[in-house]
Amino acid sequence: MSQREVWSSKIGFILAAAGSAVGLGNIWKFPYITGVHGGGAFVLVYLIAILLVGLPIMIAEIYIGKTTQKNPVGAFKDVTKNSNFLTKLAKLSPIAGFLGVLSGILILSFYSVVAGWTLHFLFLSFKGFSGSKEVIEGHFNHLYSTPSIMILWHTILMIIVVLIILKGVQKGIEKASKIMMPLLIFILFTLMIYSIFNGGSGEAFRFMFYPDFSKLNAEAIIQALGHAFFTLSLGMGVMITYGSYLKNDISIVKSSVLVSFIDTFIALLAGMVIFPIVFSSGLEASSGPSLIFKTLPTLFAKITSGSIISIMFFLLLFFAALTSAISLLEVVVVYFVDERKWSRKKGTIILGVTIYLLGVLSAIPKITIGKESVLDFLDNVTTKYMLPFGGLLTILIFAYFIPLKSIREELKLSKFIFYSFVWICRVVTPTLLIWVILNKIGFI
Ligand code: PHE
Repeated sequence: MSQREVWSSKIGFILAAAGSAVGLGNIWKFPYITGVHGGGAFVLVYLIAILLVGLPIMIAEIYIGKTTQKNPVGAFKDVTKNSNFLTKLAKLSPIAGFLGVLSGILILSFYSVVAGWTLHFLFLSFKGFSGSKEVIEGHFNHLYSTPSIMILWHTILMIIVVLIILKGVQKGIEKASKIMMPLLIFILFTLMIYSIFNGGSGEAFRFMFYPDFSKLNAEAIIQALGHAFFTLSLGMGVMITYGSYLKNDISIVKSSVLVSFIDTFIALLAGMVIFPIVFSSGLEASSGPSLIFKTLPTLFAKITSGSIISIMFFLLLFFAALTSAISLLEVVVVYFVDERKWSRKKGTIILGVTIYLLGVLSAIPKITIGKESVLDFLDNVTTKYMLPFGGLLTILIFAYFIPLKSIREELKLSKFIFYSFVWICRVVTPTLLIWVILNKIGFI
């Protein structure tokens, strides 16, 4: 059997993992859900969710990947091998891996369509936005009602993703992340400086960091918890897969903290770029999913150097989306490579085409499941149910089925910190997740 690939360096792994985490979730979703839920108090709950749910699951996933060196299905099988706790139940653990692979297929199918929107807007930015508010907002309406354009961009995006994954771990994923992530951070800082000089920052800062608890409700808390998963790419095996390419000399805890920090920092920074522009033009922060594709272009048309700013902005969004999309395909491909003995080439092409075809359904809003478009349906099923459920299984398997001694040896934490961590993983994280899931299925 051929040797399993590894990351060429620590920084390569960190950038790839951060690349997966930082995506449309940070720059498109986080600002708009913060806007909808009234700002500061929501941000606070989100930060607590990252700490109590996101970080423990990130550590668990990277641990499972690194110690088994396998794809999610194989990894869950391996990691519970020596478990003497409820042995029969332990045998079911690969289900968590299968669920992850399925989530990967479903998420990438619609994620690629939305990532395609960013390409369309990048293209429009080169032409420049002009005209009345209706005309500019019409761009998104036109795109959304013209499947052929959405399919075109979806096709281009999936081809790029497939080409990167064909090249493998070091020459594909790692290289792409090493190029795109620094550019992304550079663009974000440039836009941030632009925002500061153009006013509205004070108001944006207050909006994001002054907690008004009267605006907080159960729905906001569930949304914040669910988003913690999506934004950190948890609950479907990305971090298991990326962890499986790690060499021995890296600290799981430190890299998990770093990746979570980068992801959170970039989401907050995106808010600090977007809200000042919104506020300085006297617009509403709560306009929802169209904040990026309707509200911002209207503003880009008005401000000085608007076209450069909009090119930079949509390029940022495109890089963020692409590094996340490749991680989704990698999880799916590596399962077939490891467990079904397919070659990387065969796996990438067959699965890439399958996911592409499934994605076409999300690009045709007229096709509905129940009352929702396929895109909304898949977004809801995966983010609200599958990821939290996958995360719950992961943390339970990690905290109850793996001997604590092995975990402690690997994590190298002091006794007090280690046992506090175990308590969080055994009690706090699962309780919060079960509460979210019961809420979602309408039980509470
Ligand atoms: N974390 C990505 C984002 O914020 C989305 C993602 C979810 C990627 C799950 C991989 C797995 O957009």
